[in-house]
Amino acid sequence: MSTQGRPITCKAAVAWMPGKPLEIEEVQVDPPKDHEVRIKMMYSGVCHTDWAYLYETGQSMSPRHFPVVLGHEGAGVVESVGTEVTKFKPGDKVIPLFLPQCGECKRCLSTKTNQCRKNWANTQKGVLADGTSRISYNGQQVYQFLGVCSFSQYSVVPDTSLAKIRHDAPLDKVVLLGCGVSTGYGAAINTAKVEPGSTCAVFGLGAVGLSAVMGCKAAKATTIIAIDTNPAKFPKAVEMGATECINPSDHPKTKIQDVVKEKTGGGVDVALECVGDTAVMSQALESTIDAWGVCVIAGWTETEKLSVEVEQLLLGRTIKGTYFGGWKGVDALPLLVNKYMAEELKLDEFITHSLSLSEVNKAFQLFKSGDSIRSVVSLW
Ligand SMILES: NC(=O)c1ccc[n+]([C@@H]2O[C@H](COP(=O)([O-])OP(=O)(O)OC[C@H]3O[C@@H](n4cnc5c(N)ncnc54)[C@H](O)[C@@H]3O)[C@@H](O)[C@H]2O)c1
Ligand SMILES: [Zn+2]
Ligand SMILES: [Zn+2]
Repeated sequence: MSTQGRPITCKAAVAWMPGKPLEIEEVQVDPPKDHEVRIKMMYSGVCHTDWAYLYETGQSMSPRHFPVVLGHEGAGVVESVGTEVTKFKPGDKVIPLFLPQCGECKRCLSTKTNQCRKNWANTQKGVLADGTSRISYNGQQVYQFLGVCSFSQYSVVPDTSLAKIRHDAPLDKVVLLGCGVSTGYGAAINTAKVEPGSTCAVFGLGAVGLSAVMGCKAAKATTIIAIDTNPAKFPKAVEMGATECINPSDHPKTKIQDVVKEKTGGGVDVALECVGDTAVMSQALESTIDAWGVCVIAGWTETEKLSVEVEQLLLGRTIKGTYFGGWKGVDALPLLVNKYMAEELKLDEFITHSLSLSEVNKAFQLFKSGDSIRSVVSLW
């Protein structure tokens, strides 16, 4: 029987309150309204940011509404569309976007940014354009994290927050393009604009940092220094293109930025921070060469302040942030999928664990203990 136009009852991992593990619940997912698309979610990656919103909300992360369905790195198939939707149809393979691309606003028309603000305030609150969520539990509204909420078997998203991808794309792999891999790869390619022959340092070797290493290599950097406090990440970093790996703990008497400067004759051209720690952000900035070094912040923290000595910038350094790797998602994701299909972009290598929805809390434990890069949760 067709589900079109009817509410669907399905399973979702619900975060009832900050700091508590997710609970698998039966939720109701309403049909899409005019400019909305209901997706049958097939897979979800588990990103550090999901963990941070659950366990750091009100600390390094701004307060959010609960109960919420987390997950913002998903891939699925369109189940049904609202009456005003023209670009999607049932059966399309899609990746939902936590950053929209409406294609019409001043920001979308500029080549300088990917920061489209369509539905932004609502998405940040976890609701859709009419101010409500499409997900409920026994009549109680459940918020939709970043407008994606990929820890639910079905989700409803705005049609401007969705990328259509080719039919032969394996969703269990390209799911990683929904956040982590696109972010790190784009941080190097789009935001840092790494040049051939340059020297780079990447701080933090989770999926974001390893993708940054991959991006530096793709941009033909000749020296790529990979830095992590967990040396278990080093073999993967070398696989992605790192030319050297450093564990700061091996240099207890020297600041890591001085180690990098000494190895590179004064500092790297580009440093990428992929941890989300303000102390590491300072280390990354100070690792760059004073005259032209570029420091890109990919790590996510919302409430903390970064203190920078003015002299660090005065001589010529630049510090900038990257959000979703600078990609305009609707246009870029099909191309990144093509790159993966042409074996020009690695994805399989990031997936260390395949879990069921009921094991979603285990995914958090796995990366907090340093034992995983990306866990991919199968929703069905
Ligand atoms: N800017 C964006 O759009 C965006 C998108 C996705 C994720 N993020 C953020 O990027 C960061 C990384 O995400 P992830 O999923 O790869 O996380 P992760 O937890 O898998 O990886 C973080 C890595 O940093 C390492 N680390 C911790 N402390 C360190 C230190 N002092 N020095 C060096 N390495 C250290 C850890 O051992 C780990 O390998 C997070 O802050 C996440 O919220 C940002
Ligand atoms: Zn993420
Ligand atoms: Zn826009």
